[in-house]
Amino acid sequence: MRRPLIAGNWKMHKLPSEAVAWLDGLQDGLLDGLLGRLGSAGLESEPADDKVQLVLNVPATHLHAMAVRLQGAQLQGARLELGGQDLSPHDQGAYTGEISGAMLRDAGAAFVIVGHSERRAHHQESDHLVNAKIRAARRHGLVPILCVGETDGQRDAGEAQAVVVRQLEGALEGVELMTADDLVVAYEPIWAIGTGRTATAEDAQQMCADVRRTLAQLHPRHAAGIRVLYGGSMKPSNATELLARADIDGGLIGGASLEIDDLLALVRAAR
Ligand code: 13P
Repeated sequence: MRRPLIAGNWKMHKLPSEAVAWLDGLQDGLLDGLLGRLGSAGLESEPADDKVQLVLNVPATHLHAMAVRLQGAQLQGARLELGGQDLSPHDQGAYTGEISGAMLRDAGAAFVIVGHSERRAHHQESDHLVNAKIRAARRHGLVPILCVGETDGQRDAGEAQAVVVRQLEGALEGVELMTADDLVVAYEPIWAIGTGRTATAEDAQQMCADVRRTLAQLHPRHAAGIRVLYGGSMKPSNATELLARADIDGGLIGGASLEIDDLLALVRAAR
């Protein structure tokens, strides 16, 4: 069984100091047992794997302060983890402005978004570069959240599926996985990101099933267990319908992940 995953993508929002205060605000919601807690008294009888996993992919400047707060607070043991939003394909060296996988990990990240459409569009990231970044993430023990998705022009031209398959094949070429938990894929149709327009649950399910079929060819041993998320204007009002679909294992959420109430409502919808 695949554990539901709600992954926030904060993009370039909030200051580090605001993020720490925000975590404190989240605490009450988490303490009511929404997320599995590892070894905390009273909830030990609940199998943690039944619970939703929550990951916050935040700006790299926020990671350390948030990780320290998570360690020090009652949140310790909650299945709340941190992730970055991008990483360098290189391990170290003369790459001004870049952030390595090791740096993200040392700052407290367990996950990292790779190949987000905003990186592909604004920073000309190719499938080849995305592949190198996935490999870098794996080298440093980070779980990549690989983003794929078509433009509205590609969907109108009937090319959506071919685009997504091509992105998956390019990004995952030669990538080795030890377990199904070593990779997450997020299907994010570009026309749905930040627009308020969501894919229908039908269309999202169909593409997520196509993603899994492609994964079955690339990683036959692990495809059934790899989590496939939907992203693109997911919010409390449409999440239940999307998350009920067989191949949609969670969401990658931008705008709605910035608000505590919305985020908790999304976690509830994923249970
Ligand atoms: P929105 O949820 O704001 O549409 O953003 C989706 C996204 O890009 C997540 O990576």
